[in-house]
Amino acid sequence: MPLLNRLLSLAVLGVSAVPSVLSFQPGFSYGSEKVRGVNLGGWLVLEPWITPSIFENTGNDDIVDEWTFGEYQDYDTAKAVLQDHWNSWITEDDFAAIAAAGLNHVRLPVGYWAFAVGSGEPYITGQLDYVKKAITWASDYDLKLIIDLHGAPGSQNGFDNSGQRMSYPTWHSNQTNVDRTNEIIKTIISMVDSEYETVPIIAPLNEPAGFDGDDVLTVVKQYWKDSYGNIRYPYDSSTESNTVELIHDAFQSLSYWDGFMVDGYDGVAMDTHIYQMFSDKQVAYNYSQHIKEACSHGSSLADFDLWIIVGEWTPASTDCAKWLNGRGTGARYDGTMSGTTAVGSCTGKTGNATSFSSDYKQFMRQYWEAQVISYEKGSGWIQWTWKAENADDWSYQAGLKYGWIPQDPTDLEYPNICD
Ligand SMILES: *[C@@H]1O[C@H](CO)[C@@H](O)[C@H](O)[C@H]1NC(C)=O
Ligand SMILES: *[C@@H]1O[C@H](CO)[C@@H](O)[C@H](O)[C@H]1NC(C)=O
Ligand SMILES: *[C@@H]1O[C@H](CO)[C@@H](O)[C@H](O)[C@H]1NC(C)=O
Repeated sequence: MPLLNRLLSLAVLGVSAVPSVLSFQPGFSYGSEKVRGVNLGGWLVLEPWITPSIFENTGNDDIVDEWTFGEYQDYDTAKAVLQDHWNSWITEDDFAAIAAAGLNHVRLPVGYWAFAVGSGEPYITGQLDYVKKAITWASDYDLKLIIDLHGAPGSQNGFDNSGQRMSYPTWHSNQTNVDRTNEIIKTIISMVDSEYETVPIIAPLNEPAGFDGDDVLTVVKQYWKDSYGNIRYPYDSSTESNTVELIHDAFQSLSYWDGFMVDGYDGVAMDTHIYQMFSDKQVAYNYSQHIKEACSHGSSLADFDLWIIVGEWTPASTDCAKWLNGRGTGARYDGTMSGTTAVGSCTGKTGNATSFSSDYKQFMRQYWEAQVISYEKGSGWIQWTWKAENADDWSYQAGLKYGWIPQDPTDLEYPNICD
């Protein structure tokens, strides 16, 4: 029964509404309104491919992620560079531009080290002030902010964007890491629970490495349930917050998660990330194959039983962006990654959009629209990423500037592209 009717019928019966029973009011109408948003990648968690200059300027090839950025440099030097980056990469003007582009969400990746660094961990801190600024700016421009824990102690996926690049992640195999992560989620919810209209949703862990098998998945599933308690019931077991939990599919198919945290749970959303350049097969697709595959996701998103947000995706169709696969690693597309065979040349596929052909830009518009149409069959989408130093194919800002992204995301030129 809709909430208002329940309140009215209770009022008719002379029963005063009991807030703890009827109080769940998410700060955004997930499921009825579409999420349309952008990630603030490479700001509070460094990524070599988003800001290659920060890494190049160190003059040290062994600096490949934020951990080594702190480990292999003088503290004052590293801190000054980061401070300058935090002050300039994203500012209030970006929030204004994101709102003006008709978007309603920003997803903010942040590492655990912004909240608590362990002894011997070389991370530099100071990001928390910027999380707070981001919340204020989101509120000022009427945007919803997702706090996304992008890096956990021990690394949950071994990607450079978890803070620590490594061949096999160690978050899941060490209970101390998991316990520390739970404590950080408690810290985050205690910061933002009263601001649920601006921060309606928390993602307790980005992209845990489910591809490494059941050892990881078992820990992840328990962690999603523990995070549910931490985020949805932060006060006691009968008093709900208004904050939604955004779990991630851990690179498993949606069918793997059928029924997970459905019965007996309330206020849970699923995040899935869709890219088409990280396998030899997909990177070799032609334009129509990319579009067809984008469209093909619509039905499984529509059928999923939780709210489902495509929290990362891109109109980029190659892995050509410099260091996208890690500092010092080449690309599948042009065969510069070892063990791959070239599909074509990377020239004109990434870098500055002034070098993109009109055919390529037209394809990007079509591919962007196909994804938007398809992902809105679910609860909506959040593009990766708002800006990149030298990879305009990934940049929402560049897409707006050069025309493959419309100024209003509902203004489609190819509304029937998936039919
Ligand atoms: C588990 O992780 C913690 C840091 O979170 C570390 O101090 C400890 O040494 C790790 N234990 C093992 C057995 O690796
Ligand atoms: C794209 O690839 C598909 C599958 O190989 C093929 O049928 C189609 O003709 C190709 N399209 C173009 C425009 O090359
Ligand atoms: C791309 O080139 C144009 C024209 O030279 C320049 O204005 C713009 O800043 C460049 N974009 C990036 C991301 O470097």
